[in-house]
Amino acid sequence: MKVQNQYSNEELQPLQSIEQWEDDVLKRYPEAGEPAKAKEEYRNYDNPGRDTVREFYRLNHKYQTYDFVQEKMADFLQFNRKEMPVWNAMEFLNTLVDDSDPDIDLDQLQHLLQTAEAIRADGHPDWFVLTGFIHDMGKVLCLFGEAQWAVVGDTFPVGCQFSDKIVYPEFFADNPDIHDERYNTKYGVYAPNCGLKNVHMSWGHDEYLYHITKDYLPEPALYMIRYHSFYAQHREHAYDHLMDDHDREMFQWVKKFNPYDLYSKSPKPPVIKELKPYYEDLIARYLPATIRM
Ligand SMILES: [Fe+2]
Ligand SMILES: [Fe+2]
Repeated sequence: MKVQNQYSNEELQPLQSIEQWEDDVLKRYPEAGEPAKAKEEYRNYDNPGRDTVREFYRLNHKYQTYDFVQEKMADFLQFNRKEMPVWNAMEFLNTLVDDSDPDIDLDQLQHLLQTAEAIRADGHPDWFVLTGFIHDMGKVLCLFGEAQWAVVGDTFPVGCQFSDKIVYPEFFADNPDIHDERYNTKYGVYAPNCGLKNVHMSWGHDEYLYHITKDYLPEPALYMIRYHSFYAQHREHAYDHLMDDHDREMFQWVKKFNPYDLYSKSPKPPVIKELKPYYEDLIARYLPATIRM
């Protein structure tokens, strides 16, 4: 069953490229010290880029239902699409480079290397560096024909009330789950403070990569991977009522990771050839020779 067949081309790819989403997150959460201009730009709704992002979230909020997530998990967690070494998976991801947006200067691999190099420069443990390097590898979902709004974008719990702290909350009006009494209460299918391990998140590159790596990396790394786009919690604290004490402890790591993801972009691209031996060695320390996707 190919779910995406029900969507039009415009619905599959509302963004010019998936980086448009991250550029928008950066405007929403500008780096401390340079807020004013960025915030103004963010509010500029006449900007066509903003309309594209709005359309992206309209689709994301409409289609990410509890059932949609179950369907995607049942399909993608079979890992029956590809098997390859991690470095090759990164190169595969890099074929995603989009030529329709001339403003984008960094490809996926460069973003990952810059994130990882910034973490390494601050002297963090090697598994933290590795996490920076692979954190967006789940975006290969795009190469398997998935809609952009089912790969990137802020993530949030499904199966319970959508918080109005999620970006563009008004678009949840189109999500059928808000009329389903199993899912539309504060706790929905969950119990108070049940812990995020019991909570289903909207489907995307975060959840997917978590399942690929869950047997190999330390727990803080897995939290960073799984919840790095969960801005409604790690920035807005909208889902404290589902978190348990262990989540709260682990979210310190998610928060530590986020600035490296958002603010490590430098105009000087890393020299991939020079860095490759270090990262191949780092991958081999934690991950198997090949991964299944
Ligand atoms: Fe990401
Ligand atoms: Fe990222």
